[in-house]
Amino acid sequence: MFSVAIDGPAGAGKSTLAKAAAAKLGFIYIDTGALYRTVTYAVKAGGVDIEDESAFKRLLASIKIELEFIDGVQHVFLNGKDVSELIRTPEISASVSIVSAVPMCREFFLDFQRSLADKYNAIMDGRDIGTVVLPNAQVKIFLTASPEVRADRRYKELLEKGHEVTYEEVLDSVIKRDDRDSNRETAPLKPADDAVLLDTSNLNFEESLEEIIKLIRG
Ligand code: CDP
Repeated sequence: MFSVAIDGPAGAGKSTLAKAAAAKLGFIYIDTGALYRTVTYAVKAGGVDIEDESAFKRLLASIKIELEFIDGVQHVFLNGKDVSELIRTPEISASVSIVSAVPMCREFFLDFQRSLADKYNAIMDGRDIGTVVLPNAQVKIFLTASPEVRADRRYKELLEKGHEVTYEEVLDSVIKRDDRDSNRETAPLKPADDAVLLDTSNLNFEESLEEIIKLIRG
Protein backbone atom coordinates (compact mmCIF):
# COMPACT_ATOMS: atom_id res chain seq x y z
CA MET A 1 0.00 0.00 0.00
CA PHE A 2 1.08 3.59 -0.56
CA SER A 3 1.44 5.72 2.58
CA VAL A 4 1.81 9.46 2.92
CA ALA A 5 2.76 10.78 6.36
CA ILE A 6 1.89 14.39 7.15
CA ASP A 7 3.09 15.71 10.50
CA GLY A 8 3.23 19.16 11.98
CA PRO A 9 2.06 21.48 14.75
CA ALA A 10 -1.51 22.42 15.63
CA GLY A 11 -3.42 24.34 12.99
CA ALA A 12 -0.82 23.97 10.23
CA GLY A 13 -3.65 22.88 7.95
CA LYS A 14 -2.83 19.19 7.99
CA SER A 15 -6.37 17.90 8.17
CA THR A 16 -7.99 20.13 5.52
CA LEU A 17 -5.08 19.64 3.12
CA ALA A 18 -4.73 15.92 3.74
CA LYS A 19 -8.47 15.45 3.26
CA ALA A 20 -8.46 17.32 -0.05
CA ALA A 21 -5.33 15.58 -1.30
CA ALA A 22 -6.74 12.17 -0.37
CA ALA A 23 -9.98 12.91 -2.22
CA LYS A 24 -8.04 13.95 -5.31
CA LEU A 25 -5.85 10.84 -5.28
CA GLY A 26 -8.50 8.31 -4.20
CA PHE A 27 -6.69 7.57 -0.93
CA ILE A 28 -8.31 7.47 2.47
CA TYR A 29 -7.46 10.19 4.93
CA ILE A 30 -6.68 9.09 8.48
CA ASP A 31 -6.72 11.76 11.17
CA THR A 32 -4.77 10.22 14.06
CA GLY A 33 -5.31 13.25 16.31
CA ALA A 34 -8.94 12.12 16.55
CA LEU A 35 -7.78 8.98 18.39
CA TYR A 36 -5.95 10.95 21.09
CA ARG A 37 -8.80 13.43 21.29
CA THR A 38 -11.25 10.55 21.83
CA VAL A 39 -9.21 9.09 24.68
CA THR A 40 -9.08 12.57 26.20
CA TYR A 41 -12.85 12.82 25.89
CA ALA A 42 -13.21 9.45 27.64
CA VAL A 43 -10.78 10.51 30.39
CA LYS A 44 -12.82 13.64 31.06
CA ALA A 45 -16.18 11.90 30.84
CA GLY A 46 -14.99 9.20 33.23
CA GLY A 47 -13.31 11.62 35.62
CA VAL A 48 -10.11 9.57 35.37
CA ASP A 49 -6.87 10.85 36.87
CA ILE A 50 -4.23 10.04 34.25
CA GLU A 51 -1.48 10.32 36.86
CA ASP A 52 -3.03 7.18 38.35
CA GLU A 53 -1.46 4.63 36.03
CA SER A 54 -3.72 1.73 36.91
CA ALA A 55 -6.88 3.82 36.56
CA PHE A 56 -5.75 5.01 33.13
CA LYS A 57 -4.88 1.44 32.16
CA ARG A 58 -8.35 0.28 33.23
CA LEU A 59 -9.94 3.04 31.18
CA LEU A 60 -7.98 2.09 28.06
CA ALA A 61 -8.93 -1.55 28.54
CA SER A 62 -12.60 -0.67 28.91
CA ILE A 63 -13.16 1.61 25.92
CA LYS A 64 -13.70 0.75 22.30
CA ILE A 65 -12.58 3.30 19.72
CA GLU A 66 -13.41 2.70 16.07
CA LEU A 67 -12.93 4.66 12.87
CA GLU A 68 -15.38 4.57 10.01
CA PHE A 69 -14.99 6.21 6.65
CA ILE A 70 -18.32 7.58 5.46
CA ASP A 71 -18.18 9.17 1.98
CA GLY A 72 -14.44 9.49 2.46
CA VAL A 73 -14.88 11.36 5.75
CA GLN A 74 -13.50 9.84 8.92
CA HIS A 75 -15.88 9.39 11.82
CA VAL A 76 -14.67 8.29 15.21
CA PHE A 77 -16.79 6.20 17.56
CA LEU A 78 -16.33 5.79 21.28
CA ASN A 79 -18.19 2.74 22.58
CA GLY A 80 -20.47 2.93 19.55
CA LYS A 81 -21.24 6.66 19.80
CA ASP A 82 -20.10 9.06 17.07
CA VAL A 83 -17.96 11.61 18.93
CA SER A 84 -16.39 13.24 15.85
CA GLU A 85 -17.68 16.71 16.71
CA LEU A 86 -17.56 16.42 20.51
CA ILE A 87 -13.79 15.93 20.46
CA ARG A 88 -13.06 19.21 18.67
CA THR A 89 -13.83 21.63 21.48
CA PRO A 90 -11.30 24.04 23.01
CA GLU A 91 -11.58 22.06 26.28
CA ILE A 92 -10.41 18.85 24.64
CA SER A 93 -7.69 20.73 22.74
CA ALA A 94 -6.42 22.10 26.05
CA SER A 95 -5.97 18.64 27.59
CA VAL A 96 -5.17 16.35 24.69
CA SER A 97 -1.42 16.93 24.67
CA ILE A 98 -1.21 15.91 28.34
CA VAL A 99 -3.04 12.64 27.68
CA SER A 100 -1.23 11.90 24.40
CA ALA A 101 2.17 12.20 26.10
CA VAL A 102 1.50 9.13 28.27
CA PRO A 103 3.48 6.24 26.70
CA MET A 104 0.71 3.72 27.44
CA CYS A 105 -1.68 5.84 25.43
CA ARG A 106 0.65 5.98 22.41
CA GLU A 107 1.30 2.23 22.60
CA PHE A 108 -2.45 1.65 22.63
CA PHE A 109 -2.85 3.05 19.08
CA LEU A 110 0.36 1.95 17.41
CA ASP A 111 -0.68 -1.37 15.85
CA PHE A 112 -4.09 0.01 14.97
CA GLN A 113 -2.59 2.86 12.94
CA ARG A 114 -0.15 0.53 11.21
CA SER A 115 -2.87 -1.94 10.33
CA LEU A 116 -4.84 0.82 8.61
CA ALA A 117 -1.80 1.73 6.53
CA ASP A 118 -1.43 -1.95 5.59
CA LYS A 119 -5.00 -2.10 4.38
CA TYR A 120 -5.44 1.16 2.48
CA ASN A 121 -3.58 3.65 0.34
CA ALA A 122 -3.64 6.40 2.90
CA ILE A 123 -2.65 9.88 3.87
CA MET A 124 -2.18 9.80 7.63
CA ASP A 125 -1.73 12.98 9.61
CA GLY A 126 -0.43 13.48 13.13
CA ARG A 127 2.72 14.29 15.04
CA ASP A 128 4.80 11.10 14.88
CA ILE A 129 3.61 9.41 11.70
CA GLY A 130 6.83 9.85 9.71
CA THR A 131 9.08 9.21 12.71
CA VAL A 132 7.39 6.38 14.64
CA VAL A 133 4.15 5.05 13.19
CA LEU A 134 5.12 4.70 9.52
CA PRO A 135 8.88 5.14 9.26
CA ASN A 136 8.72 3.53 5.81
CA ALA A 137 6.04 5.82 4.37
CA GLN A 138 6.75 6.55 0.71
CA VAL A 139 6.19 10.30 1.18
CA LYS A 140 6.72 12.32 4.35
CA ILE A 141 5.71 15.94 4.68
CA PHE A 142 6.23 18.20 7.67
CA LEU A 143 3.71 20.99 7.42
CA THR A 144 4.29 24.21 9.33
CA ALA A 145 3.22 27.83 9.47
CA SER A 146 3.96 30.59 11.94
CA PRO A 147 2.14 30.32 15.30
CA GLU A 148 0.18 33.49 14.49
CA VAL A 149 -1.05 32.19 11.14
CA ARG A 150 -1.97 28.85 12.69
CA ALA A 151 -3.79 30.46 15.60
CA ASP A 152 -5.67 32.73 13.22
CA ARG A 153 -6.85 29.77 11.13
CA ARG A 154 -7.93 27.85 14.25
CA TYR A 155 -9.63 30.95 15.70
CA LYS A 156 -11.76 31.42 12.57
CA GLU A 157 -12.64 27.71 12.53
CA LEU A 158 -13.81 27.85 16.16
CA LEU A 159 -15.84 31.03 15.60
CA GLU A 160 -17.57 29.41 12.63
CA LYS A 161 -18.55 26.51 14.87
CA GLY A 162 -20.00 28.94 17.40
CA HIS A 163 -17.35 28.66 20.13
CA GLU A 164 -16.73 31.76 22.21
CA VAL A 165 -12.99 32.26 22.12
CA THR A 166 -10.59 35.14 21.61
CA TYR A 167 -7.64 35.09 19.23
CA GLU A 168 -5.26 35.50 22.19
CA GLU A 169 -6.71 32.43 23.94
CA VAL A 170 -6.34 30.35 20.80
CA LEU A 171 -2.76 31.52 20.23
CA ASP A 172 -1.88 30.72 23.82
CA SER A 173 -3.46 27.26 23.58
CA VAL A 174 -1.74 26.45 20.27
CA ILE A 175 1.68 27.50 21.62
CA LYS A 176 1.24 25.49 24.84
CA ARG A 177 0.15 22.38 22.95
CA ASP A 178 3.04 22.55 20.47
CA ASP A 179 5.43 22.99 23.33
CA ARG A 180 4.13 19.87 25.11
CA ASP A 181 3.98 17.85 21.89
CA SER A 182 7.54 18.81 20.91
CA ASN A 183 9.10 18.26 24.31
CA ARG A 184 7.55 14.97 25.41
CA GLU A 185 9.83 11.98 25.72
CA THR A 186 7.84 9.49 23.69
CA ALA A 187 7.30 10.20 20.01
CA PRO A 188 7.74 13.98 20.13
CA LEU A 189 6.59 16.23 17.33
CA LYS A 190 9.53 16.66 14.96
CA PRO A 191 10.23 16.22 11.28
CA ALA A 192 11.55 12.83 10.20
CA ASP A 193 15.06 13.05 8.75
CA ASP A 194 13.66 12.30 5.32
CA ALA A 195 10.59 14.56 5.51
CA VAL A 196 10.03 17.48 3.15
CA LEU A 197 9.34 20.70 5.06
CA LEU A 198 6.47 22.76 3.75
CA ASP A 199 5.78 26.16 5.33
CA THR A 200 2.29 27.34 4.41
CA SER A 201 2.47 30.75 6.17
CA ASN A 202 2.44 32.54 2.83
CA LEU A 203 0.52 30.01 0.77
CA ASN A 204 -3.24 29.88 0.37
CA PHE A 205 -5.16 26.61 0.47
CA GLU A 206 -4.99 25.97 -3.29
CA GLU A 207 -1.27 26.67 -3.45
CA SER A 208 -0.57 24.43 -0.46
CA LEU A 209 -2.67 21.64 -1.94
CA GLU A 210 -0.85 21.91 -5.25
CA GLU A 211 2.51 21.58 -3.48
CA ILE A 212 1.35 18.52 -1.56
CA ILE A 213 -0.04 16.79 -4.65
CA LYS A 214 3.19 17.54 -6.45
CA LEU A 215 5.20 15.97 -3.62
CA ILE A 216 3.03 12.86 -3.56
CA ARG A 217 2.98 12.41 -7.35
CA GLY A 218 6.71 13.09 -7.55
O1 CDP B 1 -6.00 19.36 14.45
P1 CDP B 1 -4.97 19.81 15.43
O2 CDP B 1 -3.69 20.18 14.74
O3 CDP B 1 -5.43 20.82 16.38
O4 CDP B 1 -4.58 18.59 16.36
P2 CDP B 1 -4.88 17.06 16.17
O5 CDP B 1 -4.19 16.54 14.95
O6 CDP B 1 -6.33 16.82 16.33
O7 CDP B 1 -4.10 16.44 17.42
C1 CDP B 1 -4.50 16.70 18.73
C2 CDP B 1 -3.40 16.29 19.68
O8 CDP B 1 -3.26 14.88 19.66
C3 CDP B 1 -2.01 16.83 19.43
O9 CDP B 1 -1.79 18.11 19.97
C4 CDP B 1 -1.13 15.78 20.09
O10 CDP B 1 -1.03 15.99 21.47
C5 CDP B 1 -1.91 14.51 19.86
N1 CDP B 1 -1.42 13.72 18.72
C6 CDP B 1 -0.30 12.95 18.91
O11 CDP B 1 0.28 12.96 19.99
N2 CDP B 1 0.14 12.13 17.91
C7 CDP B 1 -0.49 12.09 16.73
N3 CDP B 1 -0.05 11.28 15.78
C8 CDP B 1 -1.61 12.92 16.50
C9 CDP B 1 -2.05 13.74 17.52
